[in-house]
This record gives sequence, structure tokens and C-alpha cells, in this order.
Amino acid sequence: MAENAAATANIGVVGLAVMGSNLARNLASREGNTVAVYNRSYEKTETLLSEHPEAGFVGSSTVEEFAASLQTPRTAIIMVKAGAGTDAVIDQLTAVFEPGDIIVDGGNALFTDTIRREKAVRETGIHFVGAGISGGEEGALNGPSIMPGGSKESYETLGPILSSIAAVAEGEPCVTHVGTDGAGHFVKMIHNGIEYADMQLIAEAYDLIRRGTGKSPAEIADVFAEWNTGELESYLIEITAEVLRQVDAETGKPLVDVIVDQAGAKGTGAWTVQTALDLGIPVSGIAEAVFARSLSSKPAQRAAATDLPGPSDAWTVDDPETFIEDVRRALYASKIIAYSQGFDEIVAGAEQYGWDIQKGEIAKIWRGGCIIRAQFLNRITEAYAENDGLVALVTAPYFRDAVAGAQDSWRRVVATAAHAGIPAPAFSSSLSYYDGLRADRLPAALVQGQRDFFGAHTYKRIDKDGTFHTLWSGDRSEISAVDTH
Ligand code: 6PG
Repeated sequence: MAENAAATANIGVVGLAVMGSNLARNLASREGNTVAVYNRSYEKTETLLSEHPEAGFVGSSTVEEFAASLQTPRTAIIMVKAGAGTDAVIDQLTAVFEPGDIIVDGGNALFTDTIRREKAVRETGIHFVGAGISGGEEGALNGPSIMPGGSKESYETLGPILSSIAAVAEGEPCVTHVGTDGAGHFVKMIHNGIEYADMQLIAEAYDLIRRGTGKSPAEIADVFAEWNTGELESYLIEITAEVLRQVDAETGKPLVDVIVDQAGAKGTGAWTVQTALDLGIPVSGIAEAVFARSLSSKPAQRAAATDLPGPSDAWTVDDPETFIEDVRRALYASKIIAYSQGFDEIVAGAEQYGWDIQKGEIAKIWRGGCIIRAQFLNRITEAYAENDGLVALVTAPYFRDAVAGAQDSWRRVVATAAHAGIPAPAFSSSLSYYDGLRADRLPAALVQGQRDFFGAHTYKRIDKDGTFHTLWSGDRSEISAVDTH
């Protein structure tokens, strides 16, 4: 049992698995912080205390001691697996905390759970802040990107603490008050949706290059390393080169060839798409990335389908260098679409839930620490600084020009993939979205006609106001329009 601690800690962490321990160590390493730690089973606390005496942690074996070890107003960050465990810890903390104290949930919670929890905890006078934290284990330890929601008032206490542990990009800490209640977890969810799209696009680029040019994973690692010096510079491109270069110690083969080709998912990508469906926002690139993981993880269906016929013509790439450059440009254009769709969802979510989300600030705090950190996020901040009411990121001058420069390559790559029978769902859906967005006229007019035909769902006309229903018949001369106004 830990000794009954005096109130010496200015911040506490509950949940000492890898993310929680690393975040606690990060907090302890910043000047002025004394960190209280608590875990359901005391063994984990003991291990952390003995492995990191330099951190000066204040360990407690009960939640009451933990609360007593914190200076008031108490601030505690919960780092447990999102779900029922989070509710259990909140119940424990609200029982021993007092009005004015702050409970932060740093897990990957579903934002609607955060809205519910914030409302319930607020009734006790305690503040509840859902904070998205990105950057994996390494980010938690050395500086993550942090997306806190909750009240403005709680951010006054929390802001300086979070700023002290966040990643720093171009001199600025990667943290901002995103908006009230669930706004932080909502934005973290979109971050993850974009992360899924970015990863899938990179995987498609690798697959096309490998199958088209016959280059080895190590050679493709060099291609990615080279791309990482230009407009695609990002953490995900950087680690892709490292993953492709890795050799399996047991077999001597490229590790990527030894790994089972079934991608897992913990659900945040699916949430992004489910939420987008509810909001009516087409995040098709993100959706295809989620579905590509689902398809990969259907071994029985895939095994049954291996003899379905593919293209009859063999595929060869005449000029590998040109093809690789085409793929690079297609990747850049598709990535712009993924961000454009993700920001559309942020705008729609902000409107639906009444959050004042500063889009440019979100792009800024994603420049460092998080999984999607990338050079080009500065361009997004600039685009919203120029025009905060931008209706689609891809229409901003910088991105319009970037896509204009890439689109011939993009079309060639998508056509080549279709011709060669290579799945490129994220590349192709992004291009279709782009073409849909820029179309003068869409066949949606025909869909409206069909809906009115079988269900009298009505339609609008291009030449006059009002809502119309046609008395459909086989003889066109008998069709008459009825203004249902
Ligand atoms: C991050 C990551 C992280 C997340 C996984 C997504 O920002 O640090 O988004 O929070 O848990 O990367 O996991 P899956 O791929 O397993 O869904």
C-alpha cells in the first residue's frame, strides 16, 4: 500500500498501460509538474514507480488516496481503453472529486459518449473534458498532438499543462481548445478517418508500383524516402519506407511479404464514416479505406474468389520512372481529397453540434506529434486564413492548382489500375468524387425522376420555383406537372 499522500501533485493520470505510463512520464519530465498516478491494479503502479524513480511520481493504491494526493482544483487524465471502462473510472473519480475539479478523458472515445459524459459530470459541478490524443506510444512520451474539448473555463487550467507536453511544430504547441463537450473527440475521430485514407492511398501506391515495375520492397522504400523530401513529406510516408525496408530475421524475406494481408481496425475509421452518413457528407475516400480493410479481412470470401476472371491482357509498364511519378501525383491529389472530405465533415459536425471549430487551428495542431503530421498541413491553415468560409478545401487556389497539375497522372493511374485489374479503391473513389464535385450537371436529375415515378417523391425544376410531381404515363403527351405548393 502506498502511504497516504499529501496533496502535492498538480496533475494525475489514471490508467497506466503503455499510453498512460508514457503520458505520465511526459508530464513528469516538464518543469513544475508533480504527477499522481493510479491504476485499477496496484502492480502496474508499482512497476511504473520502480522503473521510473526519476519521475517523482506520487503513487496511490486507492482512488481516495489518489484524490487526496492532488492539489485542488484537481486535474486527472484518464488513459483507459475507450468504452465501459471509461464510465467506470469516471464514476470512481466523481465520487471522490469536488466541484471545480477537472476530469479529462484522453482515450479514443466516441464523441457522442463524450457529449453524454460531459453533460452528466457537469451536473456534479465537476468539469469533464474529452481530449483526443494522437501520436501513439512515442507521441505520448515525447509530445503528442492534443485535441481537447470541454468548457473554456476548464481549458484555462488545462491549456498550460497540455501545452507543456504537446509536440511543438514551428515553435507552436500542437494543442488548441477545439470546442465544447465532444468537439475534441469528434476532431480526433476525423483525424483517424484521414489517417485510414492516407494509409490506404500509400498502400495502393506501393501495390501499383510493385506490380507494375517489379521493384522489390526495399527498392520501393527508396522511392518513398525520395517522396518524403517533397510535397508528400509526412510521418506516414517516412514510416512506410522503414516498413518496406524491414527484413524478416527468421526467413530473410522482406517483412511485408511475411505479414498476413488482413488489416485490423479498432473502429475510429468506421465511426468517421458512420457519422458522415448521418451528417450526409460524402467522405468516399475515407469510406473506401475502411472498406478495403474489411475486404482484406474476409479470408473465406477471398479464397472462394481467387479464380474469378481478371483482365485478359497482360499488363506491362513501359517506362517505370514515368509511371512512378504518375503514382506520386495521383497519391498527392487523392490525399488532398481525403483532407477536403475530412474538413467537410468537421464543418458539418460543428454546425450540427454547435461547435465553433477553427479549421486553420486544427490543421496547425496536426503539423506535429500526430500520425497524419505532414508538411502540407500549413497549406490548409493558409487556405482557411484566406477564406474561412471555404466550401470545399479542394477549391482553395493552392489545392485547385495542385490537383490541376496532378490530374492527368491521376486519371492515367486509375485507368491503368482498372485495366490491369489491380484494386485501387481509394485512388478511384477520390477521382470520382472530384469529377462529381466539378460536374456541371449530374445524373441526379434522373434519380429524382425515378423517385417521383415510383413514389411521388417530387422534384424541383431548373426553370421555375416550386415543388413538382408528374402524372407519369406511357404517353408523354399526357404528362402534366402539378405544383404541390
Ligand atoms: C493516433 C492513432 C491511434 C489509433 C490508431 C487507430 O492518432 O495515435 O490514431 O489513436 O488508435 O492508430 O487504430 P486502428 O488502425 O487499429 O483502428
